[in-house]
Amino acid sequence: MNSITLLKACRACGNPHLRKVFSLPPMPLANSFRLPDEPIGRKFPLTVLWCDECHLAQLRETVDPEVLYANYPYVTSASQTMLRHFESLWSEIKTECIPESAIEIGSNDGRMLQFLKGKGVDRVCGIEPAENLFSLAMKEGITTINSLFDKHAAEIVHGVVPRCDLIVARHVFAHVDDWHAFVKNLDVLAGKETLIAIELPYLVDMLEKAELDQCYHEHLSYASIRSFWMLLEHTPFHIHKVKFYPIHGGAMVLFIRRNDSEWARLPLPYEFIHPTAWEDFNVRAWRRIEDLKLKVHALVGSGKLVAGYGASAKSSVWISACGFTSEDIRFIVDSTPQKIGRLSPGTCIPIVPEEEIEKADVAVCCAWNFLLEIKEKLKPWIEKGGILINPHHPESNVAQTLAKEYSKT
Ligand code: TMP
Repeated sequence: MNSITLLKACRACGNPHLRKVFSLPPMPLANSFRLPDEPIGRKFPLTVLWCDECHLAQLRETVDPEVLYANYPYVTSASQTMLRHFESLWSEIKTECIPESAIEIGSNDGRMLQFLKGKGVDRVCGIEPAENLFSLAMKEGITTINSLFDKHAAEIVHGVVPRCDLIVARHVFAHVDDWHAFVKNLDVLAGKETLIAIELPYLVDMLEKAELDQCYHEHLSYASIRSFWMLLEHTPFHIHKVKFYPIHGGAMVLFIRRNDSEWARLPLPYEFIHPTAWEDFNVRAWRRIEDLKLKVHALVGSGKLVAGYGASAKSSVWISACGFTSEDIRFIVDSTPQKIGRLSPGTCIPIVPEEEIEKADVAVCCAWNFLLEIKEKLKPWIEKGGILINPHHPESNVAQTLAKEYSKT
């Protein structure tokens, strides 16, 4: 079965002349955590293309969503970091409206809608393609439509919440192949006074921080404000405000309104993306991959037991790019019950409960977006000598530790 299609033109502005700016060796789907008796699964090429017109970075390869999302273990984190983020988002929403009804596109296990209910938003409805997450949400009493966000789903949800004050789409737009169809479907849901809040990873953060681990097959695009602005140019919608948040390594929330509402259009913002940004990104990304590979091999060579902390999609990118096996990373600890007992994509590295970190000398933190919270949790382990490595911070104390080990011999 051919489950991959190749992009022909820019998802936002239609420009057919896209440039290849980054690629990783073929890798497994980053969330395909399989059971030990399930087949290992295919690897897919991953190529990032760049649109010089609207500054949208996008994947050339689109994996069939039926394959990607059939059973999806990503669960919105119940972490303190995430709760704080929900609160910040809510504060911003409140400056514009006090919603009584809300729809969430890509509602996952319903955590955000549950949060909104707690704030007094009475009527909520989610749309979620993954059956396992849909079931979790329904069990928690969150009305959810088990579907991708297509025209049919939009019509059903519109029937459930006909007058919708707020539409939220958190980290779902990066997963969307047909941007124009998404906007058309928004048109079905949004009334004159509806506030639409779209949260997505911000390209400028990704470039500045060389976040190579944002690149996996679910993330079909890496958006600038300009790309979104140009997408909406000939639609019934416009961006009227943009806010930036530190969540997930740097995200922007685009606040969108209908053109016939009273909210003014944001002028096309000036975003500085240096002409050599992608060259720099490549150099830094590959240096980080080499760096992590060398460090882990050196630590394993000196007899340390190296584990991973957080079986995030990002962990799959690092493991694939570095070519790690269960000889290098012996296990990955994670707090998500759905992931425990499974294996990291493309490898035999098992996912185990967080407590097992006690067995490790070193942990590569692949949930670095929750680093502070994890560091706090790991304080006793770190005090006993445990080393936590952030793959984005080459200056971590590994070299020092290794030097000490060598000086003992
Ligand atoms: P994410 O960055 O894609 O949300 O993934 C973070 C992963 O890290 C997720 O699988 C949950 C896991 N995690 C822990 O295991 N312990 C923690 O304390 C936190 C915050 C996350």
